[in-house]
Amino acid sequence: MQIDDFALERWFAAHEHDADLMLAESGVRSLESGRFDTDPGELGYVIPTNGDPEIRERIAARYDRDADEVLCTCGTQEANFLAFHTLLEPDDHAVVVTPTYQSLRTIPETICDVTTVELEPPTWELSVDAVSEAVRPETELIVVNNPNNPTGRYHPRETLEALYDLASDADAYLFCDEVYRKLAEQPHPPAASLGPRAISTAGLSKAYGLAGLRFGWLVADREVIDAAWNWKDYTTISPPTISQHVASQALEREDEILAENRAHAVDHRERVREFVDRHDLEWYEPVGVNVFVTIPEGFESGRAFCEAVLEEGVVLAPGEFFGHPDRFRIGFGLPTGELETGLERIEGVLESR
Ligand SMILES: Cc1ncc(COP(=O)(O)O)c(C=O)c1O
Repeated sequence: MQIDDFALERWFAAHEHDADLMLAESGVRSLESGRFDTDPGELGYVIPTNGDPEIRERIAARYDRDADEVLCTCGTQEANFLAFHTLLEPDDHAVVVTPTYQSLRTIPETICDVTTVELEPPTWELSVDAVSEAVRPETELIVVNNPNNPTGRYHPRETLEALYDLASDADAYLFCDEVYRKLAEQPHPPAASLGPRAISTAGLSKAYGLAGLRFGWLVADREVIDAAWNWKDYTTISPPTISQHVASQALEREDEILAENRAHAVDHRERVREFVDRHDLEWYEPVGVNVFVTIPEGFESGRAFCEAVLEEGVVLAPGEFFGHPDRFRIGFGLPTGELETGLERIEGVLESR
């Protein structure tokens, strides 16, 4: 089976090693491992392999679901992969709201027919009517990422409710990747709490600053979860033991961790706002730690701009990876000193032209 290169991951792989400042990272800077007990005792498989029942219980509660409607996974990425392979067949159809994180579009495209519904700048508003027009009798999934990567747009609760009704009426599922949701000051209820025809995925990489744990989850009705668990026997079998041990502590202490990370995000968003205003660039005020900005004058594309900035050791993400060659994405979740130095070096590139 052919699959397109994951353009953003390949870009990171090519440049992350040589550059010293990653302003392309989409999550909040890592927490120190020393804040957690990292010794789980034994290093066997996680039993049961769908994840620790107490963790599943804790996660389920936030979605108004049962623990059996949660599957713990290796990151949100695996949760998405398992859900798509569980739910989509070659004769199905999926509607994917774009721009979005590439795997949310590319994996469905490897399986079935996909119609994309574009969010348009400058507000990246999601049109329920446009999604409704894209739905067909064979539509199985409506795929949304909320808050959205790369735009930072957090679609309102009413929009998600309307999409839920649409999916439900079409005997489809509303699928929502909510990995950035906990970075919102006041997160809406998650999609999977809207009813049985909604599916949520999320994890600890972005809002918690724990990407190296590779810990995530899928929340859906029992039938979907059991089928996805069946697929997981062929991918990673169980979550990693050490990760689950730390994840359990992070979830217990999430109020403290999230308060710290949100304050960090708000402070950094202001720094990026000043930068964007100083250079008269267009942005949409984001939820999360990504912002999707128009390129400065004098550069022919987002890629050309990102390549110029790379010369100074700073990695940004070209907008072409999200279908917008006239933009670039800044991830501003990194440590403050690194963000400041990164922005200074970008300004240096702009001033030298
Ligand atoms: C929308 C979205 N979903 C999933 C992922 C991957 O998350 P994880 O590290 O939890 O696998 C990313 C990473 O950038 C993302 O932006």
